[in-house]
Amino acid sequence: MLADLFQEEDAARHMARQLMSIANRSREAAAKERPALLEFLQGPMERHMQYEERSLFPKLEDRGLGPEVDVAKKHHIAIRELREALEKAAGDEEVAQLVFDVARLMLHHTNFEGDYIYPELDADDWRELLEETIH
Ligand SMILES: [Fe+2]
Repeated sequence: MLADLFQEEDAARHMARQLMSIANRSREAAAKERPALLEFLQGPMERHMQYEERSLFPKLEDRGLGPEVDVAKKHHIAIRELREALEKAAGDEEVAQLVFDVARLMLHHTNFEGDYIYPELDADDWRELLEETIH
């Protein structure tokens, strides 16, 4: 289970890096990635964030990690704002910029949680997080 979740994290990091490099190379190519990226943000990423907010963050706040949780919550708000902007964006230029911005923020957020949040989880927390994210 833990290995699965780490693989998911690695996959998310890999995807974010790929998207950033595509956006740097070609605006048209980045714009073509929008549907798949939106599907990911609306599905697995949204479920992951909701589970963290509902079940994990309160536990971590109880364990004295309020400041770290506040940072992670701000990332979630910003990721959703970028998602909404990406849903509405028109034109390859704007879409490519938003693809880059949301990918960079996902990478940053994943690294932040990996460094400051996930080390505090116990085995049950991990199992629930994984189940909620993929189902
Ligand atoms: Fe998160």
